[in-house]
Amino acid sequence: MFRVVCLLAVMALWSPAEALDNGLALLPPMGWLHWERFMCNTDCDTDPDNCISERLYMQMADVMAKEGWKEAGYQYVCIDDCWPSHQRDAQGRLQADPKRFPGGIKKLADYVHSKGLKLGIYADVGKNTCAGYPGSLGYYETDAQTFADWEVDLLKFDGCYMDWKLLGEGYINMSKALNKTGRSILYSCEWPLYEWPFQQPNYTAIRETCNSWRNYADVYDSWSSVKSITAWTNDHEEVIVPAAGPGGWNDPDMLVIGNFGLSHDQQESQMALWAIMAAPLLVSNDLRDICPRSKELLQNRHIISISQDPLGQQGRCTAKRDSFEVWERTLSKNRQAVAVFNKQEIGGPRRFSLAEAPGWRICDPQCNVTQVLPQYKELGVQTLQTKTSVSVNPSGTTLLTVTPISRDFKLYWRSKTTL
Ligand code: GLA
Repeated sequence: MFRVVCLLAVMALWSPAEALDNGLALLPPMGWLHWERFMCNTDCDTDPDNCISERLYMQMADVMAKEGWKEAGYQYVCIDDCWPSHQRDAQGRLQADPKRFPGGIKKLADYVHSKGLKLGIYADVGKNTCAGYPGSLGYYETDAQTFADWEVDLLKFDGCYMDWKLLGEGYINMSKALNKTGRSILYSCEWPLYEWPFQQPNYTAIRETCNSWRNYADVYDSWSSVKSITAWTNDHEEVIVPAAGPGGWNDPDMLVIGNFGLSHDQQESQMALWAIMAAPLLVSNDLRDICPRSKELLQNRHIISISQDPLGQQGRCTAKRDSFEVWERTLSKNRQAVAVFNKQEIGGPRRFSLAEAPGWRICDPQCNVTQVLPQYKELGVQTLQTKTSVSVNPSGTTLLTVTPISRDFKLYWRSKTTL
């Protein structure tokens, strides 16, 4: 009984503000987004395979449908900057670059939908996009309607070329314009990222407006970039963690797994920490040419089920000691995900005693532990006094799920066996 009361108390304490009520993003969105890997490559003459063109998204959709991505939960195929023509059409509507998107966006959306996937598009709250294409300022309703007419499913709305004092108003007006179209369009914002340099953003308003929101700088294909994102998240957890929950998520930017800059251990760290952070899992890599180990990691169903846990509560760093960080996320059914991240970048693997993880208290009287990374392993029944430790590689992460075994369950089980 005491346990039930405690659980109810914890759930009552953790009640995020009202989310944007469009029925979307009840779990962190999953998909592919072109930016980090393909950037603003518009040179289809010399680099037809990698330029921003309808072919790129069609090929990614093909691979996503064929090679297990869709089954693993990756759903959105997302266009980033540099897709439009530099001029709006005679009716003031955005149009895709005719040379690179000869079929237009509606046809591309039809193609992506025919594969059982969804299409994302990109625009900007200000006068121009970050790469200098036309922005939506003054055209929110027109652009929202255009995206709805094209049957787009997600809008990434950037914040370049905008007076920061008008950011909130701009993002809110676009949210209303999307709602007015009557189409379900997941709304991915960058409002807080552009407001932080001036003042602390209002996360209650952001959660009411957006389905996800970028807080911090763009991810690069490097370990220092991934580390700086986790460090920022850790430093601002008091402000940002309570804002996340079903319907709206903090977005630490794309997964760069499967590219060039991270070792395999570092890729495992990014995957584990993004799952603990309840982050959107938007991969930016070349799905047509990815190493099997990275693919397996990105499709790992145990990690994805942590990311997609229905409770939707973002985890956080709960302990730091001796260049280890413990990151923990409360999961449904009173379970816990525990990531032990070894930040020491000299020497070999180091051991961490599991009883030192703050979340280990759910092991009273007993718990069942499964190691998810680096290898899947059942660690069996443990107690508060466990001496079990895990080995963690430099810049790597060991990820576990911990399931409490309650006293009530034990009594029930015993009485059954004595019958
Ligand atoms: C900004 C965003 C990136 C990307 C680029 C495109 O930097 O934060 O994610 O969309 O613009 O120009």
